Amino acid sequence: MKISEREEYITEHSALTLETSPKDPAQLFQQWYCQAQSVNKKEANILSLATCSAAGRPSSRAVLLREYHRNHFIFHSNYQSRKAKEIEQNPFVALNFTWYFLHQQIRIEGHIQKLDAHASDEYFSSRPLESQVTAILSKQSHVLSHTADFQKQSQQYLNKYAAAPEKILRPHYWGGFLVTAFYYEFWQGRKSRRHERLSYTWQEASMARHADWKRAMLYP
Ligand SMILES: Cc1cc2nc3c(=O)[nH]c(=O)nc-3n(C[C@H](O)[C@H](O)[C@H](O)COP(=O)(O)O)c2cc1C
Repeated sequence: MKISEREEYITEHSALTLETSPKDPAQLFQQWYCQAQSVNKKEANILSLATCSAAGRPSSRAVLLREYHRNHFIFHSNYQSRKAKEIEQNPFVALNFTWYFLHQQIRIEGHIQKLDAHASDEYFSSRPLESQVTAILSKQSHVLSHTADFQKQSQQYLNKYAAAPEKILRPHYWGGFLVTAFYYEFWQGRKSRRHERLSYTWQEASMARHADWKRAMLYP
């Protein structure tokens, strides 16, 4: 099937330039995130997470951003899932926020590690009981042979904990991941495909005089 739709990206956003962009990409991320959230609250925190196995085989999937601060991004998942296994083999990941409704994309590359247990516990305890039960019972990414058994067990757990939800604890195989960014690219769609791309690359102190972000505009 051929897909022939073509759309001009006409936007009222001010131009992305080296002169007007902040020195720290975290500041620009925050500005863009707040705008995306104000336009489309339900979809702003959906991102695509790409991982790569030790054999160099990439895979990607959607996850939900649950927190960000400075150049750190947090999401939660199962520590025995495919993504977690790939992260164990190769702790470099790429994130992609595609905000089509603003004709914007933010690409982030960084290093990933498990969030500390206390922060994961705190987030787990804030989740609805149904989500907690699913996190406990799901062997995420493994073959599910008996869907009905999984449903039945979920209902049993729900019944058991409904009376004493404070007793439910985060399982050791579920928790947060923290990504520390070392590369960003902000993309703003523009007319005639003359899109704007602004990159930020973290320069270690050995490369620059002080550790700093190096900014550059890229061809579309
Ligand atoms: C909109 C959306 C949000 C999602 N959020 C999460 C999430 O925050 N954490 C998670 O583990 N899976 C999330 N998923 C499911 C993942 O995309 C994926 O199916 C799952 O994590 C297993 O991936 P893996 O086999 O590569 O480990 C989400 C899926 C969608 C479509």
